[in-house]
Parts: sequence; C-alpha cells; structure tokens
Amino acid sequence: QPVLRLEYEPPAFLAKDVDLTVELDDTSKISCKVEYERQREGADLVLNGERKPAQMEIQSVLINGESLDADAYQVDDETMTIPSAALPVKVGEKISVQIDVTVVPEKNTSLNGLYKSSGNFCTQMEAEGFRNMMYFVDRPDNMSIYRTKVIASKSVPHLLSNGNDVERGDLPDGRHFVLWEDPWPKPCYLFALVGGDFDVLTDSFTTCSGKEVRLGIFVEKGNLSKTPHAMDCLKRAFKWDEERFDREYDLSQFNIVAVSDFTMGAMENKSLNIFNSKYVLADNDTATDTDFLNIEGIIGHEYFHNWSGNRVTCRDWFQLTLKEGLTVFRDQEFSSDLNSRASKRIADVQLLRDHQFKEDAGPMAHPIRPDAYEAIDNFYSLTVYEKGAEIIRMIQTIVTPEGFRKGLNLYFERHDGQAVTCDDFVKAMEDANEVDLSLFRDTWYTQAGTPEVSVKTSYNAEAAELTLTVEQSCPATPGQAEKEPFDIPLAVGLVGTSSNGPLRFKVGAADAEEVDSAVLRVTKAKQEFTLHGVSEKPVPSLLRGFSAPVKLSCSELTRRDLVFLAAHDTDSFVRYESGQELAKQILTELVEKAASGVEADALDHEDAPLLLSSLEHTLRDASLDRALVSLALAMPNESAMADAMEKGTANVDHISSACAALRRLIAEGLGPLFAETYEATREPAKNESPGDAVARRQLKNSCLRYLVKNSALREDALRKAVHQFEAPENMTDRYGAVLAVRDIDCSERTRLLQDFFDMYKSDKLVVQKWFRVQAQSALPSTVDAMKSIMDMPEVFDIKNPNCCYAVFNAFAGGNFTGFHAADGSGYTFVADRIIQIDDINPQVASRLAKQFSSWRSFTAPWSTKMHAELERIAAKKDLSKDVAEIVHKSLEAP
Ligand code: ARG
Ligand code: ZN
Repeated sequence: QPVLRLEYEPPAFLAKDVDLTVELDDTSKISCKVEYERQREGADLVLNGERKPAQMEIQSVLINGESLDADAYQVDDETMTIPSAALPVKVGEKISVQIDVTVVPEKNTSLNGLYKSSGNFCTQMEAEGFRNMMYFVDRPDNMSIYRTKVIASKSVPHLLSNGNDVERGDLPDGRHFVLWEDPWPKPCYLFALVGGDFDVLTDSFTTCSGKEVRLGIFVEKGNLSKTPHAMDCLKRAFKWDEERFDREYDLSQFNIVAVSDFTMGAMENKSLNIFNSKYVLADNDTATDTDFLNIEGIIGHEYFHNWSGNRVTCRDWFQLTLKEGLTVFRDQEFSSDLNSRASKRIADVQLLRDHQFKEDAGPMAHPIRPDAYEAIDNFYSLTVYEKGAEIIRMIQTIVTPEGFRKGLNLYFERHDGQAVTCDDFVKAMEDANEVDLSLFRDTWYTQAGTPEVSVKTSYNAEAAELTLTVEQSCPATPGQAEKEPFDIPLAVGLVGTSSNGPLRFKVGAADAEEVDSAVLRVTKAKQEFTLHGVSEKPVPSLLRGFSAPVKLSCSELTRRDLVFLAAHDTDSFVRYESGQELAKQILTELVEKAASGVEADALDHEDAPLLLSSLEHTLRDASLDRALVSLALAMPNESAMADAMEKGTANVDHISSACAALRRLIAEGLGPLFAETYEATREPAKNESPGDAVARRQLKNSCLRYLVKNSALREDALRKAVHQFEAPENMTDRYGAVLAVRDIDCSERTRLLQDFFDMYKSDKLVVQKWFRVQAQSALPSTVDAMKSIMDMPEVFDIKNPNCCYAVFNAFAGGNFTGFHAADGSGYTFVADRIIQIDDINPQVASRLAKQFSSWRSFTAPWSTKMHAELERIAAKKDLSKDVAEIVHKSLEAP
C-alpha cells in the first residue's frame, strides 16, 4: 500500500500541451484538452482523479475529437484508465484526450483542488490537488505548457491564472473571460486559478537586465491598507535573488492572492502565488513585529521557488526536500541579510530543536528524503523543510559561500526545465567545486534521527596543543536500527581564560595557517583532531553557528565554563547555547528533586546564584544586541525538557513544577533589574533603526513577562501591562501586554482580554491571536475557554484552518500543562477535534494528530491516556489516509 521511492518509473504518457477552459460557478464546468505523448509501448493511460472532495462528475471523454463510450474506460476511487487499444499512437507520437467534468467548489472543504474561500474561487494543487479538479497524470515529472481560459459572471471581476493574460473579453451570454498562457513547462502542482472580487495593490519591478515586471497583490475587499509591507518584501526578494544568487525573474507579471482559508502558509504557483492571508496582511495596529518578519520570510520563500522548485522541479515527491530544504535555506539567508543574522539563526535553531528533533525521535522519523509514504501531505514536515535547510547549509559550509553560489548556478543551468533528484543537486555542487560529497550525501539524505556528538579535550601546555576526541552515534529510528557515521562539519573556536577573548590556532600541522575558527570534518564513529599553537588552556567553543543539526555534549565543560562562554564567546550562537545548557542542567536536577518528592524550589539550588549572575551580566552588557538578550532570557520550556528525557520517563507534574520554579527564581532574583530594563526599553530611542526598535520591544516584553511573576512587583507590573496595552507602540506591545497577564487569574486579565476582543472583533487575523492566548493559558479553565470560543460562530469557524491552528494546535502543541492535564481532559478534547475535523480537512486533522505521537515519552498515567485516545481515533469510521498514517505509525513504533 505505501508508495516506495525505489519503485520510481517514468510516466507512460506525458502531457505536452494542456488547454483548459474553466467556467466558474456553483457547479463549475471544466474542460481539459491534452496532447499526450506516448512513452511506453502497449501501456494504458492511467489518469489520477478523485471524485469525493469536490464532487467531481465526468461529463465526457473524447479521443482525437471522438467521443469515448463510458464502458470503454474504467473509473475507480482514484483513477481513470483508458486502455492502450483506444490510444492508437506509437512511442513519441501524440494523441489528443479531452475530458470534461463538473465540480462543486463550495463543497470542497479539504481546501485541496478548486475551492471557495470567503466567496472567492481559488486552488491549491500541491501535492496532489489537481486530481480533485480533473483526471490527469498528476505527478511532478509530467511537465506541460498550459493555456487556461477562465470564464465567470461579471460579479466575479478578477480572473487569474499562470503566465501572461493574452486575451480578455465579454461573452454573448453576459459573462466575461480571460485567457492565460504560461510559456514555461510545469507540473500540474504549480497550476493555479483564482476568480473573485478583490482589492488590488499594483507596483512594478525592473529586473537586472531591464525587464519591467508588473506586480499585483489581490486581497479580500477592505484590506488594501494592509498590503504595502508585503509589496515591499516582494520587491526586496526580487532584488536579493539577483544579487545573492544571480536569479532573474522570467515573466512580465507576478501576482499574489491572499485568501482566508488556506491549509498551509503559502504556495509558489508559477507567477500566481496564493497565500494564507496571515502571511500577507499587516499594519502597525494589527500585526506584531514577528508577523512582519514572518511575512518577509514567506514572501521571499515563495518567490525564490520560482527558480528552486519551478524552473527546476522535483522528479517525484520523495525529492521534496530538493526544493523545500533549498528554498527554506534561501529564505533564511534572505531574512539574515536584511535583518539581524544572529537572532535569525538562533530562532531557526530553536524551531529545529523544539519541533524537528521531536519528529526525529518519534514514530514519524524519516530521512529528509523519505523512502516510503502513505499520504505525501504528511511529509511536508519539519524534517523535509527545516532539517533539509540545515543539510543545504552544511553543504555551503563545506564548499564555502562562493563555492555554493557557483554550484547553485551550475545546478540551475544544467537542469533548467527538468524534474530532477536530490542526487542531481549534490552532483552539481560536487562538479562546480571539485569535491567529493558522497559520504555526506549517503548519510544525511538517507538516515533519519538526530546524531549525537560528544567531545573530549586534552591540553598539552608544553607542546601548546589541544586534542579533541570526537565521537558520534545516532539512535535507532523506525526501520533503521543501525546507522553509518555521518559526515559532520563541526565548527570550533577557542576562548582564552586569561585574555577573555578568542585564541588563534592551527589545525592539523604546526605550520598550518593560523585561524580563530575552523571547521573539523567528523566522518568516523571516533576521531581525533589536534590544534596547534594554542598558547593557553582554552575553553572550547563548539558547534559554532550550529554548524550541523546534531546534539552536542562536552561533559568536561563545567558550569563556570558555560557562564564564561555565555559572557565572552564571539560566536553568538554558542553564547546563547551555553546559557541554555546551564539552565537545562539546573532544570534536570530540579526535575530529579521533584521526582524524589521534594517540592521544587529553585532558590535553594546550589547553582542558582551562578545562573542569576550570568543573566544579570547579559542584561547589563550594553554592547549586546537586545534581541539576543531577550533570547537569552527565555528558558528551556516543559516540552523541551520532556524531549530531553529518556523514553517513558517524562513525568508531566515533575517537569511542570521544575520549569515553573526556574521561572520564579529568575523573576524573584532579578526583579529590580527587569524593572530597570523595562523602563530603559519602554520608549523609542533617538535615531533608532527599525531593527533596533524590534529588538527593544522584544526585550521590553520579555521583562514584562518576568515582572508579573515577581511577587513584590506584580501589582505594579500589572499596572504597567494595562498602560502598555492602552498606549502601545504597535501590536507587539498590545499583544505583549495580553501575553504577560495570560496565566494570571486577575481582573486585569479579564479586562485586557475583553478590550482586545472589542477592539478587534471584526478582524479575523487579530481574533485568532485572541484565541491563541486563551488556548495557551496555564489557567485550569482553558478547555472551557476553548469550548466557549467554538460557540462563537461570528468569529470561529472549524472549517477555517487558521481557527483550528490558533485554538487546537496552539493548545496541543503550546500548552504543556493544559494538554497533558492528568485527568486526560486535554487529550479527550483534542482527540474529539481530530475526529471532527477529519471529515472536513484531513490535512488539518493530521497535523493535529501528530501531537499524540510523543505518547511513549511519558510515564503513566499520561502515556496510557494518550494511547487510549490514539486507539479511539484509529477506530473512527472512514478515517482519512492522512490521519491513519500518523495514528498507525504512532501505535506501532516501539
Ligand atoms: N510548496 C508550499 C511551500 O512550501 C507548501 C505547499 C504544501 N501543501 C500541501 N498540501 N502539503 O511553500
Ligand atoms: Zn516551499
């Protein structure tokens, strides 16, 4: 039943030219005339097609213009088969196949295929949505030239598709049409079509070779004032890809449409990107600083796909990381070049470790290029995207940024217009740089799991030598018991304890070049490296910049060493990491203490003063980027602690009390300093750059969150929160104030939540923030609050993915104590929703179901209660393939 990577076979027929006519209506008529070229003698033409999601009905099938009787072809739940005998052409010859169907877009709640969102028609075809709108060879190695005629009543003024609009006009029956032609061959997953009544922002961009591109952003009526930021981002993306990677845009128009109902973030359809409105709409009153940055990243991401994904695409869906890992890497670099590189890097590492490491350690673990899948949508995963981007980043580290740019240019040149594999990408990098990446490729692309790397050092003062002994291993994952050693680029530096600064050294030989940072290539299970010219006993700074997606340990680093690195390392990732490691060690001991029955009190922990003085040093260091100070203040959370523990040993009560105790320790221990820092960051400084303002607000709101946890300062802090809410700089402050009171049962909380709702109740995206705060509250009333939200039909719609994410996923994935309530009420609530949503949108249901896959991490009663809910979901009638895959793998994996 699963699809297997090694069973790839090229298609028996290729669609060369596709001529589509789409009449948008309650029941839409779609006519698709295709020139199919035979590739294999004697093969039937097997077309993908699924009736169910959009009630697709076949009207007629014509071969070379002649009608084919219904009994001359076979149709089942997933395919239409036209027998070879009905297709009298030899290999290399073309035959015309025209299929007419009707679909009902309104009924398509899966949001996959052609559907309606807030009255507008739109499409989502990746990965396999086209088959919900038409019988077709729905696979990415089937690339065609599309001509698309869109027809609708004039109450639907905007009719869009891919490419250039070559003709438009009125029809005798009072309707109108637009004809689109896309000159670039593409797979059907990049096809898009939109019909609706929008507000439009237009602009233009002149490319490096002087071609003018018309830009358009289409949004639901009334949202025009929230589009300028997205347009600025789009123009920056065009420019950046020219400058950094020599990529020029290739058509005379580029459009973005924002819709309210969208399962994912956005989609890179050729010249017609479709976005979840959350990643387009922004103004100061309604969007936080983080929203603005996310929009920039995602606008960039979809635009960059024009080359990494569209001009060069994937041969099959197992190669998904070929375009996604690469494009995430490209959007990360875009955001880093335009904003603070250090804080972007730390945020990306946090995302990877909080969510991808969990995936790698659980029942859904898969290599970035998986070997098998049941529902491909389940593999639009953190592993394929985020770990995939780390693999690309390591290649850049190995071949250097200039070498990477050369390799990327060769890749695009060599494979333009083709559907290729991850191996093709690596080959281009090898050929452009004359390096051998075979070990790298054969480990990182094929093995799942997070490698563990441990380092021991020994210093020889006489010889001025430091020896590093590096060992690596990787835990078993489903289907992969044993792993080969990975090819790991380990970036290291040395910090001198007498100079408090970087030490220079030489790698390998005493006459090598002197450096202050080096990348060691770890390729064996155990390996030694010698650094020469090391003038004093150093503290090693390891895995600089998080140079590889591994778990690193160095047991000889003392807690004082960690504090030292947090204060003095020149690498901002290692500074951050050292503080986190210290906190994690203390938390681990607090969890152990709680397990032995002692009420966790962080104040009497012997290393509490060390942690506090380290944080104090960071807070007082005026030379630091405030965004980094704020990141240093965020302690490892409950879920990170659960992940770090041995399988089957995570006790929710012990973890929760330890984490709460640590937050209290910091709040009580540094209260006056937080108050002082809050005052210093409250107002904009003179000549402050926009980036500095973002960092300042981030730190301000971190301080506020600690201040409300300080018993002596709480009352004053609540006043500060109310004031900040009433006189905010922008939404960051208003939302920050609500977040600060989220977990406190007080009148200020009631008031701010009420005011927030009253102010923004007509703005869907802001109301989703209001949902999220309540779903993530640690107060015991949270499940009831979510039930009340579900009873507000004017703002909550369970068919809308954003609503589900803001309530159910926010709760299950971001409210540790609520989801894991010992009585099982959180589990039951979420499982009920999975069962309910499965009939509406399987992809949304399956994303929620992934939250149960960590059940084996916990002790009883949590593990048994999660397991019982998984069994209940598994027993649902007509469970979707998407959810079934997650649930079955969760139940089966050891
Ligand atoms: N290619 C899109 C992006 O990463 C994501 C589309 C995913 N769609 C899906 N149904 N899984 O930009
Ligand atoms: Zn993407």
